Amino acid sequence: MERMSLTVNGETIETQINPGTTLQKFLHDTLGLTGTKEGCGEGLCGCCTVRVDGKAVKSCIILALQVNGKSVQTIEGLAKGETLDPVQEAFLDHGAFQCGYCTPGMIMTSRSFLDENPAPSEKEIRYALSGNLCRCTGYHKIVKAVLSVDPKKEIVAK
Ligand code: FES
Ligand code: FES
Repeated sequence: MERMSLTVNGETIETQINPGTTLQKFLHDTLGLTGTKEGCGEGLCGCCTVRVDGKAVKSCIILALQVNGKSVQTIEGLAKGETLDPVQEAFLDHGAFQCGYCTPGMIMTSRSFLDENPAPSEKEIRYALSGNLCRCTGYHKIVKAVLSVDPKKEIVAK
């Protein structure tokens, strides 16, 4: 076991961890943050996407130990209190999910992408989300949702 210290959704965590544990398993199984799904387990589907120091990362293909000392954000940490992130609101407004399995990863990827490119074109959105697979929606509503996010909309915590 190895000692590790990190921040998850703003909370500092000191723990011991098996060096072979992936970040997805650590978040989902150890911390109970079940929004971080496992799909392919090979870095192909994107449903395990979280943010590490603000960047979207596929958590099934990195070890938890690799985020030692870093700040991790999962879908559970995206809303501010009861106020949803504008990307979450947009997914709701556009019905951009069906089974919802891909949704946390889609939203975390979209959030990171929009932080870097607040007013993207449809083509740029489709490219940014090309590593996130959805079996249900046909992507159109997801792309429309991301396109609709107002970059000037600030989150105001309640
Ligand atoms: S489960 Fe991580 S990319 Fe598919
Ligand atoms: S909503 Fe079902 S996989 Fe995307």
